[in-house]
Amino acid sequence: MVPAAAAAQLGALAALLVIFIPMAMAGYHLSRNKMLFFSGALFISLAVFVHLTPYFPLHFLLPSTSPSTSSSPPLPPLPLSCLTSLHTSLHFHPNTPTSFSFSSASCHFRPLSPSSASDLLNGSLILIAGDSQSRLFALSLLALLLPPSDLPPAESALFRRHSDYQISIPESSIDLHFLWSPFESNLTSLLRTTPSPPPDVLVAGSGLWHMLHVNDPVHYSRQLSAVRAAADLLLPPPPPPHLFWLGLPELVGPMLNTEEKRERMNLTVSRRYEREGRRMGRSSGGPFFYLDVGMMTRRCGEACTADGMHYDRAVYDAAVQVMLNALLIESRQRV
Ligand SMILES: *[C@@H]1O[C@H](CO)[C@@H](O)[C@H](O)[C@H]1NC(C)=O
Ligand SMILES: *[C@@H]1O[C@H](CO)[C@@H](O)[C@H](O)[C@H]1NC(C)=O
Ligand SMILES: *[C@@H]1O[C@H](CO)[C@@H](O)[C@H](O)[C@H]1NC(C)=O
Repeated sequence: MVPAAAAAQLGALAALLVIFIPMAMAGYHLSRNKMLFFSGALFISLAVFVHLTPYFPLHFLLPSTSPSTSSSPPLPPLPLSCLTSLHTSLHFHPNTPTSFSFSSASCHFRPLSPSSASDLLNGSLILIAGDSQSRLFALSLLALLLPPSDLPPAESALFRRHSDYQISIPESSIDLHFLWSPFESNLTSLLRTTPSPPPDVLVAGSGLWHMLHVNDPVHYSRQLSAVRAAADLLLPPPPPPHLFWLGLPELVGPMLNTEEKRERMNLTVSRRYEREGRRMGRSSGGPFFYLDVGMMTRRCGEACTADGMHYDRAVYDAAVQVMLNALLIESRQRV
C-alpha cells in the first residue's frame, strides 16, 4: 500500500476516534455549539491521543474554521505545553494604539480578531462572575464580540452599579451573562446551584471586597477553598465549563481613593491575597486556568491605572486574549 493511502486510512481512523468519542460523551449537547464539541471530553481524548502518538498531525483531522477571515497562512495547532508561556510572552506598550502584543519564539500566540473570536465562541454561553474587575473583563470581551456601535449602550447597561447583566449576540449566537458576585461566598453558591443552562465558559474572580471589608487572608483562603470545592464538583454530564480564575491586580497604595483602602489594602496584605488566589489555578492543583492579572498589571505599570486598583482596557483586553488563546490551544484548532 502506498504511504499516502496508509496515512489516509490511519487519518480516517483517528478522525473517527477523535470525533465519535467526544460525541458520545458530549451527547445531545453537541449540537448546541462548537465550543462544546472541542471542550472537556475532546480535550481529554485528544490529550490521551496526542500522548500516545506525539507526532500525529491532528490538525489535519479537525475542521478548519473560517479560513477567509485571516489573510495570514494558517498556523499549526499549538502544543499544550504552550499554555505555560502564554503570560510570559505578553508585552504592554502603554500609550500606543496597539497597547499589548504577544512575543514568543516557539508558541505563536496572536490576538484573535473580532471575527475569529466570534467564530471560536459561536453558540456559547459565557458566564462571568465577580466584582468590578470581572466587569471590566466582560467589557473587553464585549468590545471584541459586539459591532462597535453596539458597545456604548452595552457598556452603560453593564456598568449599572452592583447589578447583573446579560446580552445575546444574535450574529454569533453568543450569550454573555455577568453576575455581580463580589464575595467568594457568592461564587460558591453560584457554582453549587449549577446554573441552567450550564455555561460553556465560566470566568470568576473576587478578593478586593474581602480585602477591604474582612481583611483577613486566612479567612479568604478558607472561602476560596469552598469555591474550589464547588468547582471541583462540576462534572459531566453535561460537559463542565472551561473555568478561568481572574487573579487580583497589583494595588498601587498611594493611588487608592480612600484612607480606608490605603490602610487595609496595603502591599503586604494584597500580595498575600494574590498568593491565595493563585492556588485556584491548575499549577496548584486547582480546577481553574489562572488568568494572571497581577502579572499583567505589573507589566503594564502605574501608567495604566487611575485609581491604583482598576486598570486600563489594555490589561483586560490582554486577559481576554490570554483566555481565547488558551481555549484555542485546548480545542486544538487555529482560527
Ligand atoms: C455561527 O454558527 C452559525 C450556525 O452554525 C452560523 O450560521 C453563523 O454564521 C456563525 N457565526 C459566526 C460569526 O461564525
Ligand atoms: C453575596 O454574599 C454576601 C455575603 O454572604 C451577601 O450579603 C450578598 O447578598 C451576596 N450577594 C449576591 C449578589 O448574591
Ligand atoms: C497592612 O495592613 C494590615 C491589615 O490591615 C496591617 O496589620 C499591617 O500592619 C499593614 N502593613 C503595613 C506595612 O502597613
